[in-house]
Amino acid sequence: MTFVITAGPTREPLDPVRYISNRSSGKMGYALAAAALESGHAVSLISGPVCIPAPAGADLLHITTADEMAHAVQTRIDKGCDVFIMCAAVADFKPRSLRAGKIKRGDGPITLDLIPTRDILATISLPANRRVVIVGFAAESAALADNAQKKLREKRCDFICANDITRMDTGFDADENELTLFFRDGSQRHFPRAAKLELARSIIKICITHAENH
Ligand code: CTP
Repeated sequence: MTFVITAGPTREPLDPVRYISNRSSGKMGYALAAAALESGHAVSLISGPVCIPAPAGADLLHITTADEMAHAVQTRIDKGCDVFIMCAAVADFKPRSLRAGKIKRGDGPITLDLIPTRDILATISLPANRRVVIVGFAAESAALADNAQKKLREKRCDFICANDITRMDTGFDADENELTLFFRDGSQRHFPRAAKLELARSIIKICITHAENH
């Protein structure tokens, strides 16, 4: 099978030296790529800027902005994909315009004019002739189940992996995570705190089962 997996943050430039981004380390997405490779599958890994090494054998594509990630995802899906896992922490907003020169301290105070980025998961176009299993992530700080189930429906996922980002020991930048998976049939499965690679192996197994059942 062919997996397309996104990982890490995106960066949205304000001027030649500054950007808006988030705390994603890429560890969960890279663990998913490693787990899929380990089980003998081909992996296209589309990654934002991170400081961790890519798993050997992944077809790695580096991007910076949300727009670049959207383009890379569509290209890789069009080339052929059985499972698409959108694990990246895409910046939700980008500056309306990019300043050609550095914004000078003396220009301040300044107000940032931000517009939403494209929702990649919700708007990607899927091939008509090939079934693609779609997996999303949901980073929640409140009402985890309700918000995750809403994203599951609105972003057309087969299942969504939700984590509570208010916890310091799991999620962003941590080596461990705790996830609840919500499925289309209304069922859910909780995975208690564990190493990201261990969780990734469980998620990849579920992806394979979904892909085989279609
Ligand atoms: N996502 C995406 N494109 C974006 C923003 C998010 O594809 N521009 C994807 C993420 O990769 C993740 C899912 O959508 O798989 C949910 O992301 P999350 O940050 O939890 O939610 P948002 O859709 O950004 O909504 P909100 O910020 O309101 O929680």
